[in-house]
Amino acid sequence: MEVGLIGAGNMARALARGWAEPLLFTDGGSGRARALAAEVGGEVASSNAELAERCRLVVLCHKPAQTEQVAGEIGDRTLMLISVLAGVTLERLRAAYPAAEVVRVMPNTAVEVRQGVICLASEGDARTDGGGAEGGDLAALARSRFERVGKVVDVPERLMELATAISGVAPAYLALVAEAQVEAAVGHRVPLELARQLVAGGLAGSAALLAARGMDTLGVRTEVASPGGVTVRGLAALESAGVRRAFDEAMDAVVGKQGVSSDGEDGS
Ligand SMILES: NC(=O)c1ccc[n+]([C@@H]2O[C@H](COP(=O)([O-])OP(=O)(O)OC[C@H]3O[C@@H](n4cnc5c(N)ncnc54)[C@H](OP(=O)(O)O)[C@@H]3O)[C@@H](O)[C@H]2O)c1
Repeated sequence: MEVGLIGAGNMARALARGWAEPLLFTDGGSGRARALAAEVGGEVASSNAELAERCRLVVLCHKPAQTEQVAGEIGDRTLMLISVLAGVTLERLRAAYPAAEVVRVMPNTAVEVRQGVICLASEGDARTDGGGAEGGDLAALARSRFERVGKVVDVPERLMELATAISGVAPAYLALVAEAQVEAAVGHRVPLELARQLVAGGLAGSAALLAARGMDTLGVRTEVASPGGVTVRGLAALESAGVRRAFDEAMDAVVGKQGVSSDGEDGS
């Protein structure tokens, strides 16, 4: 077994489904590791120590607050580690795993359908003095593994928390936006399934259009919103309801007013 996932929750499941290969799993006792291994293939290790013993590459998918406890279970092994833990800095990871090479990534759950965004803390930040291969090699390994499940974007480590607050949270935010639009449609007596189909299609097509236009949001908006038309009225209603302020406040809520979170202990 080449790759092991410590933690078998939402992010581990999304990654395992996206990678679709046999993996080794552990959990904190819930049995989710067994369910995941049964679904995607692979096995459950009896402990984190056994997992680390058997795997060339270990992906940390537990909660940020469990960092030191899990590191204590694994001990001083020479390891290649990839962390998805929100708010856990490379410095903290290196202190917890003094003999390991570490790379930090921040995926979102769209990795499950191989359309994730995966922020990779810049290679310059990767450890180069650990055991095994050079840090750059681990970063390259992480890059090629995560490119299989989405778009990898290099991000300086100091911006990782902000990146989390943009792409990490995106599936949740857009699910909320979609839900609100479906509810508004149903409130106007549109059948639920039809509303869901139209909202899902609208989101997917609009995302592709924005990407194709290099995120020319104004251009895409004005092409739909002809003067005096219905879209102009809808956009004005969204503006006056405070959609921009809502996203501003959400950003503040995640990273704080200063731009970076103070502890990141809540994970994502
Ligand atoms: N969810 C996201 O969208 C997202 C996005 C980016 C990054 N992340 C990061 O991904 C990590 C996991 O988040 P999540 O949403 O997947 O959380 P989650 O669903 O709560 O899963 C956490 C997993 O860790 C397991 N665990 C707890 N203690 C453990 C231990 N000592 N040894 C092994 N496994 C242990 C839990 O076990 P049980 O099943 O037994 O409870 C559970 O399977 C977090 O660090 C978060 O910051 C998440």
